[in-house]
Amino acid sequence: MNVRFQDFNPWKFSFRDDPVLVLEDFWSPEEMARFRKAMTKSQWTSLSNLPLVARAFPNCGNWLKATIGPQEAEYFLGRVGLPCVAAYVESFPGIRARHVNFNYYAYAVGDCLSTHDDTDEAYVASQGIRPPRRRLALATYFHEEWHPDWGGELIIYADKARKGGQRHLSITHCILPAPGSLVIFTVPRFHRVCRVDLLAGDRKRLSIAGWFMTEHDS
Ligand SMILES: [Fe+2]
Repeated sequence: MNVRFQDFNPWKFSFRDDPVLVLEDFWSPEEMARFRKAMTKSQWTSLSNLPLVARAFPNCGNWLKATIGPQEAEYFLGRVGLPCVAAYVESFPGIRARHVNFNYYAYAVGDCLSTHDDTDEAYVASQGIRPPRRRLALATYFHEEWHPDWGGELIIYADKARKGGQRHLSITHCILPAPGSLVIFTVPRFHRVCRVDLLAGDRKRLSIAGWFMTEHDS
């Protein structure tokens, strides 16, 4: 579903019926300015300084990641914790605990994120731990302006039947990172972020992205 937030009913929508939700104009200009200001004060880490992630995503440029401060994190969760999000997360049996993990990201010219399904298996194997299960992925955009020529689209795929062991992905959604929009989709689901084009100049694709997760005993 792709709808303006003011026309959206978060009590009626179900991720079981429609696994990809795009809400336009989710944030007010004041809210967007608040997060952009917080981003300017953040301590950014580049992909090259995140060894596990850099190994999982080679040749993806050198995008930046930062921790969201406690006040902004609380405000953020208060806004994105929609009834339809809670209903989906709580629909899984045997939940022992709930977790979220959201961060700021800044993509400049040349930055991208190659295709993955958010199951995090490579990371899990390397850590030897059983992490919470990612149930819903979220991405939302805070830059003031974004043009189609600047790239950085979020591409979402359907994982079709495999022929001869080959994965066959077909595009279901190509989502422009429109300022103030919010995307939430069920995990696992293959997706990628297109490379930010040279035409973006010195513009940054500013986002918050992460997951709603559940922890289980087995
Ligand atoms: Fe992802």
